[in-house]
Amino acid sequence: MVGSFKFSPTPSLIFGVGKRKELPKVIKSFGLHSLIITGAGSFSKSINGNQLLKEIENSVGSCHFATVSGEPTPEMIDKIVERISNVPLDVIVAIGGGSVLDTGKAISAMIGKDETIEKYLEGVGTKQPDGSKVPFIAVPTTAGTGSETTKNAVITRIGENGYKKSLRHDNYVPNIALIDPELTVSCGKEITAASGTDAFTQLLEAYVSSKSSQFIDLFALEGLKLSVKYLLQAWKNGDNLEARTGMSYAAMLSGIALANSGLGTVHGFASSIGGFYPIPHGVVCGTLISECVAKNIEKLSKSKSSEGYIKYAGIGRLLTTKNDASNSYYCKLLIESLRGWVDEMQLPRLSSYGIKQEDLNKIAKVTDNKNNPVVLTVDEMTQILESRL
Ligand SMILES: [Fe+2]
Repeated sequence: MVGSFKFSPTPSLIFGVGKRKELPKVIKSFGLHSLIITGAGSFSKSINGNQLLKEIENSVGSCHFATVSGEPTPEMIDKIVERISNVPLDVIVAIGGGSVLDTGKAISAMIGKDETIEKYLEGVGTKQPDGSKVPFIAVPTTAGTGSETTKNAVITRIGENGYKKSLRHDNYVPNIALIDPELTVSCGKEITAASGTDAFTQLLEAYVSSKSSQFIDLFALEGLKLSVKYLLQAWKNGDNLEARTGMSYAAMLSGIALANSGLGTVHGFASSIGGFYPIPHGVVCGTLISECVAKNIEKLSKSKSSEGYIKYAGIGRLLTTKNDASNSYYCKLLIESLRGWVDEMQLPRLSSYGIKQEDLNKIAKVTDNKNNPVVLTVDEMTQILESRL
C-alpha cells in the first residue's frame, strides 16, 4: 500500500552544464536592483567565476556585491542586513557553497525585519518567521549541502553555548536554483570530499529515515546511485565533467530528500559538534558516516526484516555486480566501502579540530537522534565519535 507523505515546495530548477550563461537574464527578470553574494574562496578567482561576475555586473542594472567567508553567524547576517537596509532590492543572488547559499537565504528573509535573526531561529528565538522575503536565487558552486533546494538556512554560533540552528519557512526555498555543474570544477580535493560525502550522507540518512516515504525515496535512491558512481571519480579528477554533473544532480536531490524525510544521527553530530568547534559541516558528515552506518547496521541486524536493514543492504548492492549474496553481505560491503572512501579521501579525524577524548560524552549527550532508523544510546554515540577521534 502506498504510504502517506507531504512534499514541501521546491524552487524552479535550471540545471545543466553552461546554464550559468542564463543567470544575468534570470536576475533581470526580477527587476533592476540586485544584491550578489559570493564566498571568499577560490570560485570568484576562477575563470568561470570571474567571467560570470563580470557578465552580471555589465548586464544587470544596479548590482551591489557582498563577500562572505565561513559558515553564517547571527552577527554576519545582521551586519549585512543593516548595511543594505536602505538599498532598493528586487532580488538577492547567492553564488557559492552551502554557507554562501544559506547566508543569501537568511538575508533575503531578514530584510525589513529590523531585528536580529536570533529571534527567529528554531530552538533559540521566540518568534515565528512570517515567510516574507526578497526573491532569492541560489547558484551552488559545490555539490554538497543541497541548500539550493531546501527551505532552511543554518546559522552557527560557536562556543561553549554554541549552536547550529535553522531559520526555516516553506517560503524560504529559493525562487530559482540555477545549477551549472561546471561551476564546481574549481573545487579542490578537500572541499570535493567534504561536500560530496555531505550530499551522500544526506541522501542515505533521508533514505533510511524513520520519516521516509515511498515518494521521497525516489529522489534519495536516484541520488545515491549517482553518488556511488561519481563521488570518488569527481574527487580523483576534478575536471571530469560527467562526474561533476552527477554529483551536482545528486546534491540537488539530497536537498529535496532531506527537506521532506529529515536526517539522522550523522547530522545530529554535525549540529552539536559544529556548535562547539570550528569544524566544517561536510567534514563532520564525511568523517562520521562510515562508523555511524556501521553502528546503525549492528543494531538493526537484530531484526533483519526491518526496513532500515533492508534499505542499507540495497545500497550495498549498488556497490557490486554480485547479485546473489545475502543482505548481511551487502550491509558489510556498504560499511567497508564507506570506510574505504573515508580513508582514500583522507577525511580529517575529529582530533585535528581540537576535539579531545573527554569532550566526547558531552557531545553525545546533546546530539539528536531524530529520524535515525534506530535509536542510539549516549554510549553508542560516544563509541562512534571515539572511532573517528
Ligand atoms: Fe549536510
